Amino acid sequence: MVELVELGKWYQTIDLDGQMTRGYRGKGDVEKSWKNIKRFLPKTLEGLRILDLGCNAGAYCVESILMGAEEVVGIEANEHSFKQAVFVKEHMEKRYNREMNIHYIHGKIHEHVGGLGAFDIIYAFSILYHIRGSHIYGVCGHMAKSTKNIIARFRSPIDISKYSEMFKRLGFQVHEEFEETGLFGEDKIRKKFLVQFIKK
Ligand SMILES: C[S@@+](CC[C@H](N)C(=O)[O-])C[C@H]1O[C@@H](n2cnc3c(N)ncnc32)[C@H](O)[C@@H]1O
Repeated sequence: MVELVELGKWYQTIDLDGQMTRGYRGKGDVEKSWKNIKRFLPKTLEGLRILDLGCNAGAYCVESILMGAEEVVGIEANEHSFKQAVFVKEHMEKRYNREMNIHYIHGKIHEHVGGLGAFDIIYAFSILYHIRGSHIYGVCGHMAKSTKNIIARFRSPIDISKYSEMFKRLGFQVHEEFEETGLFGEDKIRKKFLVQFIKK
């Protein structure tokens, strides 16, 4: 598959019918990670509208559509990753012989998150701590206005405390936390943390 090479370095490991993209966490990345994320999702996403912040190659956008989501919007700033997302979507549409209602926006989260309407769930996987400076306040404020359900992935308990405080001030409660191990192949020590914030 020539395109895979042309599309450069991959972050997400995605199975494209026999060809695995070589994501940085190693084999099984999306599969293992999505299994963990599904703990926080309803059994079906039928009829739901989902926003994926920093969606990268769009692996979780596709998984959400496969679980029945009505529409998924993904925002991705990096041009390579954005092109990968479009490529993966087209590949999956061929694989499943159906259209996937995923809209990718190429740009910075803080420039787009405000004008997209309401979402049933917002994904913020390994992204909030990449938003620099005062933009984070605007981004979290817009997230709080457009959803009651945020699922975020963090890299440390310090990040969890910081963003829990932020979302508490915006009317959310920490609903559940999950410590993830084994996401990095043989590296059993590095952990990630999934946290769900719910607005009552
Ligand atoms: C650490 S990766 C996480 C990717 C994906 N959410 C996941 O968990 O597999 C962060 C992604 O967010 C993108 N990104 C970083 N800052 C961004 C911003 N301000 N706006 C949009 N995308 C951003 C990066 O290009 C990258 O694809």
